[in-house]
Amino acid sequence: MTGDSEDKSGVMQYAKQIDTTGHIQKDVDLIKTEIGKTTLYISTARPRHRKSRLVERYNVEKYDLSTSYTCPDFALELIPSTTPDYIDQGENYVQRIVRSLSYFKQCALVGPSGTGKTHIVYLVAELAGLPMWEINCGLQTSTYDLFGRYIGLGKENWVDGQIVSWCRHGGILYLDEANMMKQDIAARLNPVLDTRGHIVLTEKDSEIIPRHPRGYVIISMNPYSSEFAGTKPLNAAFRRRMTVWINFDYLSMGDKISQEEVELVIDKTGIPADISLKVVKVGAELRRQYKSGDLPYGPSVGDLINWSRLISDGMQPKTAAEEAIVALTSDDPEVQDTVRRVMTMYFETRR
Ligand SMILES: Nc1ncnc2c1ncn2[C@@H]1O[C@H](COP(=O)(O)OP(=O)(O)OP(=O)(O)O)[C@@H](O)[C@H]1O
Ligand SMILES: [Mg+2]
Repeated sequence: MTGDSEDKSGVMQYAKQIDTTGHIQKDVDLIKTEIGKTTLYISTARPRHRKSRLVERYNVEKYDLSTSYTCPDFALELIPSTTPDYIDQGENYVQRIVRSLSYFKQCALVGPSGTGKTHIVYLVAELAGLPMWEINCGLQTSTYDLFGRYIGLGKENWVDGQIVSWCRHGGILYLDEANMMKQDIAARLNPVLDTRGHIVLTEKDSEIIPRHPRGYVIISMNPYSSEFAGTKPLNAAFRRRMTVWINFDYLSMGDKISQEEVELVIDKTGIPADISLKVVKVGAELRRQYKSGDLPYGPSVGDLINWSRLISDGMQPKTAAEEAIVALTSDDPEVQDTVRRVMTMYFETRR
């Protein structure tokens, strides 16, 4: 409804989408009604509101990723909603990704585990109102799941896989751990990474599916691979086709402690500021050791938030860390002791 004053600017935006004859365009959730001499526009479109707030907040008004895009009904549930804010320190990551997609239709994100690459792709999909087709290339997803298959006899029994659905219907294809992609799948994807590319469905009478004009690609990968022996250099054809590369890093690392991260932890969990600072310092040190190859994993801000939730529930920080951080880092008792030593630098030994 258009009741409170905060909503009015939103109503004006929707109102602009009504054409000159006064007809509401097809995909605008607006009802025009007249009471006496007053014309009222009634909108029930809460999600659009949030969308336009995100567009403003991340300063991406000038880029257009989805005008005249209509998402097919079956994919509506793939449009993310309520993605948490993405915090950065002036790097404008969201804007840089949106800009790259708007000019080049694709981009690459590089950064260690837990720096928010997946999170930010969801946020970009949400603010653009696009479905997310997410594929983790490190998992052995079958070509059937990716490209499609027959589920019975007869042409009508073909079901598109994720990549084919993206190509046909548009949205963001997110290839996580792209450098772990199997060669045969990469080879089939190459032709569609050209903006005017296509997929040839050899399984289905060689049907040619042109890339949807609103079909974007984001690939991501992790350059620090002490944990994953399988990490390989990125396929050369992929590398050539990505114009923009964006590097991600932890908010806090080693001696560099980000006040934004300390505040985010307080905000999400309500723990006292001095404890939050220590939690982030522990995280920063573990990340430093991860990046230098001494630990198999460095905790993300999400992991620090989980740890802090247990603390805010009344657990001692070190006891809580056993559950939320130590075991997460590794199963190896020696590695776990290294993590415990870092805890002891900031929290007393009592458990
Ligand atoms: N800058 C940030 N602002 C807000 N939340 C963040 C930020 N960075 C990371 N997070 C949070 O940390 C957690 C890990 O982030 P995410 O899974 O997106 O990392 P990733 O870079 O995709 O990691 P991986 O390489 O392991 O897939 C999530 O809970 C995410 O919300
Ligand atoms: Mg990820």
